[in-house]
Amino acid sequence: MAGITLNSVTKSYGGNAVINDLNLDINDGEFLTLVGPSGCGKSTTLRIIAGLENQTGGDVAIDDKNVNNIRPSLRDLAMVFQSYALYPHLTVRNNLMTPLRLRDLTFWERFPILGYLVPGRSKKITSIEAEIQKVAETLKIEPLLARKPGQLSGGQRQRVALGRAMVRNPAAFLMDEPLSNLDASLRVHMRAELSSLHKKLKTTFVYVTHDQAEALTMSDRIAVMMDGDLLQLGTPEEVYKNPNDIRVAEFIGSPKMNILKGTCDEKGQVTSAGIKIDAQIDPLNAGAISIGFRPEHIEIVQKASNKTLSGKLSYKENLGSDVFLHLSLDGSDDSFIVRAQPNEGNTQKIGDILHFTPIKGSALVFDSKGQGVTLLKSKTSGKRK
Ligand SMILES: Nc1ncnc2c1ncn2[C@@H]1O[C@H](COP(=O)(O)OP(=O)(O)OP(=O)(O)O)[C@@H](O)[C@H]1O
Ligand SMILES: [Mg+2]
Repeated sequence: MAGITLNSVTKSYGGNAVINDLNLDINDGEFLTLVGPSGCGKSTTLRIIAGLENQTGGDVAIDDKNVNNIRPSLRDLAMVFQSYALYPHLTVRNNLMTPLRLRDLTFWERFPILGYLVPGRSKKITSIEAEIQKVAETLKIEPLLARKPGQLSGGQRQRVALGRAMVRNPAAFLMDEPLSNLDASLRVHMRAELSSLHKKLKTTFVYVTHDQAEALTMSDRIAVMMDGDLLQLGTPEEVYKNPNDIRVAEFIGSPKMNILKGTCDEKGQVTSAGIKIDAQIDPLNAGAISIGFRPEHIEIVQKASNKTLSGKLSYKENLGSDVFLHLSLDGSDDSFIVRAQPNEGNTQKIGDILHFTPIKGSALVFDSKGQGVTLLKSKTSGKRK
């Protein structure tokens, strides 16, 4: 088990910066997810931790020991890739054995036929086989040990790839989009399996995904990256409820958060689309601001008033348990998504004009630079930085 620390890590390719001054403390035994859009530097960060890529500047430490000059094979980390990277010509058993044979057997002990004659080899093989048995039981892949990767489903292959990482009992697992080749329902199933595996192993997991739902469901903490910057690090709940940057607010959560332009007056009162929003902020922010509303924080009301916004229903996204109503806001091109209960959403028709109001205290305010602003007076909202 190991904690991992990145200290002012930078990475450039030919003068093009892809990681900017990254500081990250990953706790021992933590499930930390690096999440962000394509190209933001997630895989590069993971590869720098693994030692597969050299950072341009800064330090990487594993268990407080600087590993800048330590080879990948000596960092005691196991990497699991999206592509599984299994040996197609070897059985599952031999795929699992390979890392242990390489680690535990000497050159002569690995030698075909002659190797069998080296004293002590059979004892080592027995212990390798016991380890494989243990991992196969944990991952429920015992019935598959005699098959080759080509005879397995995607989910089974992914489990074998995990097993191959587990047999070495590494100090930490580094996983780069390990579930993205699986179909949607298997992906959800494997999320639950990975979470329970993490609880069982209690080893550090550093997990990379561009899927915010994966990040929210599995992680102890998530690190949201964009354009090579770490924008926010926090528990899934913190990042969802209190995004510190408008880009985090828009990236985390599905459907996307609604963002409206607004103003803050000299008393700190927030106004948008002609209505006063239940949000009071420091008057130092007077001027143009943006306001975010999650689709679940909007109430449809019967009558228009000075507290409601109105929009024309342009599209209904029926998910069974929820109906997302897509509205075109009056007098603007902005669209707005509202979550409704099925009994409510199903009665609305395309083209209807709906009136709605944000639930008290649910607004998130961002200054003109997109930074989160703390609400001063609100009964229900939490503190923001
Ligand atoms: N070997 C390389 N040479 C030049 N540029 C590279 C190299 N590897 C990565 N990059 C660039 O670095 C940036 C970050 O790449 P990275 O693979 O870390 O992104 P990512 O967040 O993992 O994206 P994805 O979700 O698409 O996998 C990208 O702009 C990419 O084009
Ligand atoms: Mg990547």
